[in-house]
Amino acid sequence: MSGFGFDTVLDRRVVPALKHHRMVLGADGMDLFAAGVADMDFAVAPCITQAIAARAAHPVFGYEAVPDGLLPALTGWLSARHRWQVDQAHILRAPNVLNALAMAVNLFTKPGQGVIVQPPVFFDFADIIAENGRRMVENPLILQDGRYQMDLAGVERLAADPDTRLMFLCNPHNPVGRVWTRDELARLAQIARAHDVLVVADEIHGDLTFAGHRYTPFASVADPADVITCLSPAKSFNIAACSAAFTVVADPARRAAFQAENSRLTVNKNNAFASVAMQAAYTQGGPWLDAALDYIAGNLALLRARLAEMPGVTLIAPEGTFLAWLDFRALGLAPDELTAFLRGRAAWAVTRGIAFGPQGAGFARLNFACPRARLDAALDTLEAALHDHRKDTR
Ligand SMILES: Cc1ncc(COP(=O)(O)O)c(C=O)c1O
Repeated sequence: MSGFGFDTVLDRRVVPALKHHRMVLGADGMDLFAAGVADMDFAVAPCITQAIAARAAHPVFGYEAVPDGLLPALTGWLSARHRWQVDQAHILRAPNVLNALAMAVNLFTKPGQGVIVQPPVFFDFADIIAENGRRMVENPLILQDGRYQMDLAGVERLAADPDTRLMFLCNPHNPVGRVWTRDELARLAQIARAHDVLVVADEIHGDLTFAGHRYTPFASVADPADVITCLSPAKSFNIAACSAAFTVVADPARRAAFQAENSRLTVNKNNAFASVAMQAAYTQGGPWLDAALDYIAGNLALLRARLAEMPGVTLIAPEGTFLAWLDFRALGLAPDELTAFLRGRAAWAVTRGIAFGPQGAGFARLNFACPRARLDAALDTLEAALHDHRKDTR
């Protein structure tokens, strides 16, 4: 027993939780197993709720500076947890990671230029590139013996184009769950250096790795001038709605450009609750995160054992994140048919694989950071649906 109550089922509809909202589930989907949006169904670490309550107890919410303890909290976490030494002066606050990605694209590429992505990958990358008038350049991952690999020769080929100057790296990779190794990242860093490509590393899932896999900050193996790292406690500490994120920008000229843009757009004010939540997470949240990771690993073990008994679906075992990439291609269903099957037969609302790029056709992404009994019950309905499907197609 962790003592953190991960088995407790919380009614998230009391607040407008996106994962459980009709905006995501559809008006007809409110009773489905809501396992799409990437947050956890767990109560956050008590140190976070206590910090927010303590700040709320002071009844003045006027303008605030960055709390003195915040930057040391961030660098202390990165050093203790990930053995990555970051200079406090290189850290810039951001409202959220996607905002930082969009700013980087705007600042460091010109309209029409290429941005490399490695699908299947987090769908917002494509939206950011399109909405900012840039061109998405795809270097698909390669699925080999049930494990995804980066096509490094492909990156090298695409990076040679002088009109492609930036790459979005997802480390660890949503949705396929790869925790990129030091060797893979070091080879990528060599390519980026050789071709003068700026790597914008989205490492929001960096804290979430399973035994045997270690997150390597890309900036720790690359020339720091070639990297902008985007980080946040949103996933690891389940505080996405607090809007707390930060970037690490070692290159002085790039950092100055970021600061000037923050100022031009006046994205330089602080949210007092986000600051205290983030500081509490990074100074006192370690034991909670360790316990959450243990629990999530237990859910993964359940998922692995039960899916192994279900013909028609194959688990691409994640090395990190709380997201499982499920291969339903054996069912032979088109993307809309697969969605209809999962919703109509299994009562599952998961994320369509196709949303992550055409390579995701036939797959679905399941968020398994939920109370174990809920996951187990959802696996019962999937098993029955697959059984019925086999009978129907016989
Ligand atoms: C890889 C990745 N980056 C960014 C985000 C969103 O981050 P934020 O809410 O800080 O913009 C997510 C959320 O699912 C994600 O998976």
